[in-house]
Amino acid sequence: MILIHILLLCLAALFLRLGWRYWSATGREPRNLPPGPPGWPLVGNLFQVILQRRHFIYVVRDLRAKYGPIFTMQMGQRTLVIVTSSELIHEALIQKGAVFASRAPDYSPIRLIFSVGKCEINLAEYGPLWRSLRRNFLSELMNPTRIKQCSWIRKWSVDNHMKRLQDEASRVGYVEVIGNCRLTTCSILVCLCFGVKISEDRIKAIERIIKDILLMRTPKLLDFLPVLTPLFRHQVKAAKELRRKQMECLVPLIRNRKAFVESGGHPNATTSEMASPLGAAYVDSLFKIEPPSRGRLGEEEILTLCTEAIVAGTDTSATALEWALLHLVQDQEMQEILYKEIVECVGKNGAITESDVEKMPYLGAIVKETFRRHPPSYFLLSHAATKETELGGYTIPAGVNVEIYTKWLTEDPEMWQNPSEFRPERFLTGDGVDVDITGLRGVKMLPFGAGRRICPAWSLGTLHANLLLARMVQAFKWIPIPDHPPDPTDTFAFTVVMKDPLKAIILPRQN
Ligand code: HEM
Repeated sequence: MILIHILLLCLAALFLRLGWRYWSATGREPRNLPPGPPGWPLVGNLFQVILQRRHFIYVVRDLRAKYGPIFTMQMGQRTLVIVTSSELIHEALIQKGAVFASRAPDYSPIRLIFSVGKCEINLAEYGPLWRSLRRNFLSELMNPTRIKQCSWIRKWSVDNHMKRLQDEASRVGYVEVIGNCRLTTCSILVCLCFGVKISEDRIKAIERIIKDILLMRTPKLLDFLPVLTPLFRHQVKAAKELRRKQMECLVPLIRNRKAFVESGGHPNATTSEMASPLGAAYVDSLFKIEPPSRGRLGEEEILTLCTEAIVAGTDTSATALEWALLHLVQDQEMQEILYKEIVECVGKNGAITESDVEKMPYLGAIVKETFRRHPPSYFLLSHAATKETELGGYTIPAGVNVEIYTKWLTEDPEMWQNPSEFRPERFLTGDGVDVDITGLRGVKMLPFGAGRRICPAWSLGTLHANLLLARMVQAFKWIPIPDHPPDPTDTFAFTVVMKDPLKAIILPRQN
């Protein structure tokens, strides 16, 4: 077995040597690429990054300081152009939005398994398939009428969330924030997608699977040296096994919904868990659409698109809530200001509706400051130019990875006063007041991206964070555990979360 691997490795090295110029996005001709760190022959900067034994986001932070607002890294066969400054990001995503709206070619056998050949909004290249899937997502899931129609789902999930917190606190004496928030956001999204109310145990099973999928899909050695794919057969095998589990877990939800739709919306023995009326679940629209080059979608494609929505919206909102609560636990005065605002708006025991949270400016400022100070992701998803183009005076070849590093925007002292301080007030009277979170009018922070690929659910993600935070602070006073004060060190786990997940004591507020 080992001999076979060595033989394959030699063959791969030979392939690399011969095919480099053909495969490498920069190998075809000399170009005016942005400068970057010198790399090793054949593998470029790949092993220099791996040998640092820290996540890529931290490596890039240091390289930005050395190479400036735009630089190139050669990661194996992939060329990455890293863009970090406000002006260049605005130029790429807004002024030249249509050119930079594509995704870099992605041959990862693992991502191809989970996306049935890129039948996902986030992976689809800029073109008719992407346009059709995104348009459907926006009109079916994100239109204001649908968001209002589905507000009962958020109420039901958040009520369960509050009971779970209370129960956990009485059992263990404290609560762990991110696990609970993840479960709740996941249950909201499962219900939005499939129209069902299912048990917490089933939600937990789905959540475990999506976490595993996320980990499996994160970039690996194989992504940068696809020529070595034959050596990683075990990873591909593990991906197929996980895909099987995903299908086993989620396909019954699709079939039950289909039976419900075909019966004209009459619940029967198999579809009794249906909670959303006909047409109100995301999956209902996927039964009908016929995107170009795909035609009517099969079960696997429908499963992929629903999983995409659940994956995209679960950890992102939960991460924001963990960081927001960290600051409220650490700063009791800030928590009291928020509590007072909530009580003034709805009373100590009043139900908080979705329109109420829009009337709470301090709550909004805390959530915005959380997205500024702790964006769930430090990069957008990889972009790519549809044709060779100019950016910042350099030539960007079509198809190379254009990586938008957004974290620097919120650390730049020229744009933010004391950027490392967590100060929600800046969004009420300070340097955050005129921020355009969509980046159209200028780029100061971009938690959701900008331009054509901006997160299509940014308003929903913000609503989840606002609503959950308001409900949690109305019901409980959050305080640190005396012998275990929170440690704000961060780490990368698909999103940038607290290394030691936040735990806090919750005291029911006096009525
Ligand atoms: C706090 C919550 C959220 C944050 C911070 C967030 C952030 C992002 C970011 C940074 C991108 C990449 C933009 C780019 O490539 O330029 C993105 C894309 C995307 N997000 Fe979100 N997101 C959130 C919630 C959600 C939710 C709730 C859903 C679904 C229900 C969702 C669905 C998507 C999809 C489908 C894309 C791909 C868009 C495309 O490629 O056209 N996101 N999101």
